[in-house]
Amino acid sequence: MTSVTSLFAPVETDLDLLTQNLKGLVGARHPILSAAAEHLFGAGGKRIRPAIVLLLAKATMPGQSITPKHRRLAEITEMIHTASLVHDDVVDEASVRRGVPTVHSSFGNRIAVLAGDFLFAQSSWYLANLDNLRVVKLLSQVIMDLAEGEIQQGLNRFDTSLSIEAYLEKSYFKTASLLANSAKAVGVLSDSSESTITDLYGYGRHLGLAFQIVDDILDFTSSDEVLGKPAGSDLKSGNLTAPVLYAMEEQPFLATLIEREFSEAGDFEQAIRLVEQSRGLQRSRDLAASQSKAAIACLRSLPSSAAQQALHDMGDYVLRRVF
Ligand code: IPE
Ligand code: IPE
Ligand code: MG
Ligand code: MG
Repeated sequence: MTSVTSLFAPVETDLDLLTQNLKGLVGARHPILSAAAEHLFGAGGKRIRPAIVLLLAKATMPGQSITPKHRRLAEITEMIHTASLVHDDVVDEASVRRGVPTVHSSFGNRIAVLAGDFLFAQSSWYLANLDNLRVVKLLSQVIMDLAEGEIQQGLNRFDTSLSIEAYLEKSYFKTASLLANSAKAVGVLSDSSESTITDLYGYGRHLGLAFQIVDDILDFTSSDEVLGKPAGSDLKSGNLTAPVLYAMEEQPFLATLIEREFSEAGDFEQAIRLVEQSRGLQRSRDLAASQSKAAIACLRSLPSSAAQQALHDMGDYVLRRVF
């Protein structure tokens, strides 16, 4: 797992507390869920989303301590994210996550679907208990968007007419919506001005898009060990991401291979080679860099502080994984 510890320094003790709380919040009711919770929250998740929520809480309220509502929002954000991963791994039939076997491979599909549902349900309960209708609306929208993103991705498998715009829209639903809306929710809880709240949303949206594009590049360039999850599976399962969409513009035969779903011997290997020989990966890096730059620009309305600097550096950290 890539270390992000130094970036998270301003909120490190808060993050440790959060991990302890998450295990307790999720695991208290059923032994099987407590096993799943221990498994999920004890493993090597990077905790980027709750770190961003906590850093934004500090950055929007300089000199004050993080409130219990901000802490709860950070927990809800990681719960929603983790629930989406548990379900995503069932859909993708992925064997490893956060360096350990996935919930469905350890406990079976039935438990994985129920555990994901339970996490979503529980996050909604804690969300409602924040007693802030605007925040409830923001985070409920995220749960709808996540489902929308998975459905779009499922429907567009092996569809070579997919545009970069449609890919970015799907990526917003699957990944950026959570970061954007939880960043916005921080501003609501901090009583920030409307223009700051809009900037916070923009920060999360652009950072989330950069993050997903980078994840999609790493699926081509990294290994299972480094990622803690299976690499190289997006294209095989027909999930066409930025590197492939760009590569098809240069290599029309790639579309042929995809359209016949790699049905002939050597098709898949040839497709990977065509992507590697194209400018697809480089153009994807450029796309991620432009999103990261846009995210950093959205921090302009926050006063300078250690937390604000860490949020700025987060934009570079996301890219450093592929540059
Ligand atoms: C994985 O997110 C899913 C994507 C949005 C690409 P992370 O890479 O943040 O996963 P964890 O939480 O560290 O396991
Ligand atoms: C993000 O996309 C997953 C969710 C937001 C549910 P991916 O499908 O690329 O995530 P990984 O690669 O499995 O972590
Ligand atoms: Mg996946
Ligand atoms: Mg991925």
